[in-house]
Amino acid sequence: MGFFTSSAITVACLAVNNVVAFPHLAMDGMTAPIAADVAYKQLLERQSATRPQGGAPLPLTPPPFDAASQLINVTGAHAFVAPGSGDARGECPGLNALANHNYLPHNGIATINEFVSATGQVFGMGADLALFLSTYGAVIDGSGTSWSISGGPHVGIGGSHGNYETDSSPLKSDLYQYGSNSKLILEQFHELYDMQPNAATANYNLDVLRTFRNQRFQESINKNPYFVYGPFTGMAVSQAAFTFIYRFMANHSAEYPEGVLNKDVLKSFMSISGPENNLVWTPGHERIPSNWYRRNTADAYTIPYFETDILYFTSSNPQLTLVGCNEGKVDTYQNIDASTLSNGAYTAAQAAANPICFATEFALAELPGLTGLSLTSGVLGSLTSVLSSVTKNLGCKAIGSVNTTALALCPGFTLYGGPTAPVAPGAIQS
Ligand code: HEM
Ligand SMILES: *[C@@H]1O[C@H](CO)[C@@H](O)[C@H](O)[C@H]1NC(C)=O
Ligand SMILES: *[C@@H]1O[C@H](CO)[C@@H](O)[C@H](O)[C@H]1NC(C)=O
Ligand SMILES: *[C@@H]1O[C@H](CO)[C@@H](O)[C@H](O)[C@H]1NC(C)=O
Repeated sequence: MGFFTSSAITVACLAVNNVVAFPHLAMDGMTAPIAADVAYKQLLERQSATRPQGGAPLPLTPPPFDAASQLINVTGAHAFVAPGSGDARGECPGLNALANHNYLPHNGIATINEFVSATGQVFGMGADLALFLSTYGAVIDGSGTSWSISGGPHVGIGGSHGNYETDSSPLKSDLYQYGSNSKLILEQFHELYDMQPNAATANYNLDVLRTFRNQRFQESINKNPYFVYGPFTGMAVSQAAFTFIYRFMANHSAEYPEGVLNKDVLKSFMSISGPENNLVWTPGHERIPSNWYRRNTADAYTIPYFETDILYFTSSNPQLTLVGCNEGKVDTYQNIDASTLSNGAYTAAQAAANPICFATEFALAELPGLTGLSLTSGVLGSLTSVLSSVTKNLGCKAIGSVNTTALALCPGFTLYGGPTAPVAPGAIQS
């Protein structure tokens, strides 16, 4: 397939390097020649009242749209093929859809390069973000170079609870609330789906997802005795599970180059079918719709772009910038100070201002303890170098050592595992 060769990855990472400090400016620079076009200006005026992505979020000016390169092929070798009994399908609807359409190996086990290539080609994920996410998975939950999108205990996304897979996800169950981390909870789907009652104008944009994110956070406090919102899993990964819904699933067009995510497209990507009053979830049948257009590669969803979206979420709820957990009973949520956790390297305000820095530096400092390996040893070395290039590009302050003593408050913090587990005493299910 080879959409991103390794030299393309290098180029993309270098490009990202330049974008880091001024993501807004860089994106304006890219779209400026198009904005000069008169017809485009008229389009902009029409759109200025309702920006599809929501009020404040990027992009500030509409990105380019090129139908030919953004239309995703779902015929021939890329026709939908439902998973068979030997095929892994797990919590991530994006990766499940890629495997169902043979953009990833149909068995659901892929190499880092395959993840980077497929997510770039089909969804317009920035190579920096794809490399970060897939290297972390391969090293922490896989063989070092490849991993499963489902998998058994401590292998693949399914077994990665507490180090990758996490609580208060959009649609999938909290592990200790339901005894599974991979069930789609229809009540959670309805919570989101019903936020846009009119099918003709429905758009699950960042505004909508931010509200949903805050509701799900509160719901885990109210219902999951072992809810943990960790430095890496909570502050970074769990935000992605929400922003990715609009950023990667939206359909793009000349009229809406930022993308619009309507009801049918959301259902297709989430493997939901049936009429509104009788929605059905079929595990693992996530499907890329016909006539679906991804984001433009000039508007790739990179790490700096993702960080801007996290800050848009956290601006509505400072609690999202703080580590915390329930102490073994529902509604016992306590925040844990970033400064305590990082031995003073980050104040709470510094962690809040740059959540990806805090999350990634925390992961780097925690990894040797988590894996029992040295940061520079072979298998961990490749992850260290990817994470370090992220923190270098963002200009992050290092965390010398972590102090996780405070996390002893959180019974859920030491409970790794999945995809199944005992239901916590006192858990409330919908
Ligand atoms: C290499 C790339 C990717 C990796 C390693 C990855 C990994 C993960 C992991 C570990 C989770 C579980 C997080 C949690 O527990 O909340 C997850 C969930 C999720 N992912 Fe991905 N993902 C990738 C790409 C994508 C793409 C391209 C999309 C969108 C098309 C996507 C959409 C989602 C969504 C919406 C969820 C939340 C599911 C739910 O609870 O409803 N991911 N992913
Ligand atoms: C889609 O991909 C298949 C190969 O699997 C190819 O035969 C077909 O021509 C492609 N369709 C388009 C519209 O590019
Ligand atoms: C995406 O938008 C285009 C232009 O409006 C439309 O023709 C196409 O059907 C849409 N795709 C989906 C899957 O809704
Ligand atoms: C680690 O944090 C705890 C508070 O959670 C504190 O009591 C302890 O002194 C800290 N340890 C060190 C070495 O600073």
